[in-house]
Amino acid sequence: MAGTDYSSYLRIDELLDLQHPLTEGAHDEMLFVVIHQAYELWFKLILHELDDAVAELQAGRPQGAMAPLHRTVRVDELLIAQLRVLETLTPEGFLEFRDPLKPASGLQSGQFRAIEVLGGLDGTTPAGASPLSHHDQEELRRRAGLPTLFTALCASLRAHGLDAPVGDSPELRERRIEALATLYRDHTTPERAVLHRVCELLLDHDEAIARWRFHHSLMAAREIGSRPGTGGGGIAYLDGTIAQRFFPELWEVRNRL
Ligand code: HEM
Repeated sequence: MAGTDYSSYLRIDELLDLQHPLTEGAHDEMLFVVIHQAYELWFKLILHELDDAVAELQAGRPQGAMAPLHRTVRVDELLIAQLRVLETLTPEGFLEFRDPLKPASGLQSGQFRAIEVLGGLDGTTPAGASPLSHHDQEELRRRAGLPTLFTALCASLRAHGLDAPVGDSPELRERRIEALATLYRDHTTPERAVLHRVCELLLDHDEAIARWRFHHSLMAAREIGSRPGTGGGGIAYLDGTIAQRFFPELWEVRNRL
């Protein structure tokens, strides 16, 4: 009978052949390479789950978005927990292999930018940073034309009779927040309970990424002090990103209850 085995199915040999530290003798560079690769794998899964959630919400099936959003939030928590592993890297251990990495930086993570775009941010890298790869730029252009999590949520709200139009004007925004407030004030029917749960899962995701930004900035300060980052930014840049929110209207609705 035809079959497979663990290492063929999971391509373990190829996977374990992908770690190539640049500095000979720098013990901690293996951690640095592995942890970035692990992040990119988790980002891949997050995008897989969020794309599914968007499709379900866009089709007016909020129930179908619950499982992928729940899984996303669990993975978000892992992203935060992994920073504790990175914090076992000492600043002097990092300096042993840091210079040859430049100008490589997390700034150039196309998948992180894609998660931002799904969250409704523009996903652009700051001026002066090295550009993303051609492939990443193409992928972000493709994604820019697709519904975001929030516009897809609005489609589901509308499919269930709530007045949640899409658009940037203050009047449309106000109508959406009022629709959300109506839902938050009363979510006792099964249909409304699902919509409310989806909103709270989206907020969990937003909060988790903000916590990751905060903890990543603290971790970076611990590693490099006030030096510029390998991508030319630094802690002040990172601190400026902590206040970003994917779904400001889900935060604003708290004020209307
Ligand atoms: C020693 C470890 C690390 C240090 C010192 C560090 C430091 C920094 C700094 C200073 C920046 C600002 C841009 C720059 O100048 O490079 C940055 C950006 C970034 N880093 Fe890290 N980082 C580390 C590890 C990681 C890891 C493991 C990830 C996981 C993928 C990551 C993801 C990112 C992302 C996504 C950005 C862009 C954030 C944004 O633009 O909002 N970093 N990092």
